[in-house]
Amino acid sequence: MKRIGVLTSGGDAPGMNAAIRAVARKAMFEGLEVVGIYHGYQGLIDGNMEVLNLGSVGDIIQRGGTKLYSARCPEFRTKEGQQKAIEQLKLNKIDGLVIIGGDGSYRGSMTLTNSGFPCVGIPGTIDNDIPGTDYTLGFDTALNTVIDCIDKIRDTATSHDRTFIIEVMGRDSGDLALWAGLAGGAETIIIPEETYNMEEVIGRLKSGSTRGKKHSIIIVAEGVMSGSEFAAKIKEHADIETRVSVLGHIQRGGSPTGRDRVLASLFGAKAVEVLLAGHGGRAIGIQNHQVVDYDMNEAFEKGEIMDSKMYQLSKELSI
Ligand code: F6P
Repeated sequence: MKRIGVLTSGGDAPGMNAAIRAVARKAMFEGLEVVGIYHGYQGLIDGNMEVLNLGSVGDIIQRGGTKLYSARCPEFRTKEGQQKAIEQLKLNKIDGLVIIGGDGSYRGSMTLTNSGFPCVGIPGTIDNDIPGTDYTLGFDTALNTVIDCIDKIRDTATSHDRTFIIEVMGRDSGDLALWAGLAGGAETIIIPEETYNMEEVIGRLKSGSTRGKKHSIIIVAEGVMSGSEFAAKIKEHADIETRVSVLGHIQRGGSPTGRDRVLASLFGAKAVEVLLAGHGGRAIGIQNHQVVDYDMNEAFEKGEIMDSKMYQLSKELSI
């Protein structure tokens, strides 16, 4: 293996830049050439790429977003798109690829691996929804962003004696909502993995106000419903006025936390090692504090990966 490519794909996540840097620098340290591919799989199809050097990945470890830009690419799902991508890989003499993204990005990389171009995936998504890794890149930063927002909303909620519903991202996963709700002291957390009971939600709001609570925070994961839909449901059951705050894409931006930068560095270096060992179709992850690589197909096995004990605890602590 002489030359590898790196791309970021799908929704961006804080720490992607740190991972690009780690992939590039580790590869150069090992004597490989590195090509940065712009705009994910679309850039691969279009041949939008350039050789990286030590300097071109300098001053990015602390930056949010992705220097290589990202895209969701419907064309790559077609046979023609995949063929064009393979031609570009041949043309540019790229022997292996590191793909930084979520499970959609992983699916694309399995296609390339099966066509003879070994790919290794680094889990980059704020959703923390990739089986086989305890944490994905960007989750910790997004978590801290959400906590910061909850703290700020709590200030104004207290001033006005209000109930706030905060809608949190995560696609089909409730991890971000659950962790942020627990860390932010939310009274109620609504996530896709657990059923909720509206009577109980209303009961909590009422008992909180009876004992003089000045605010109530309800976190709703977007995978369940929107914040305004949940507000309408509350209105159907009780005469409680709420305010809704949709955090939106603010959760995807910002400088990565120390934890995400370290994870990115470890993941990036490991991805290069796995490619150098001649393995493709592997996903990088962290399991019980150990950086590991595993069969990427395991990352598609959508099982129950949420910690239901944590959900139970969030209820116990917010009585
Ligand atoms: O997967 C990351 C994520 O931010 C999800 O949490 C969210 O549902 C989705 O991407 C939003 O996608 P887009 O940026 O395309 O609107």
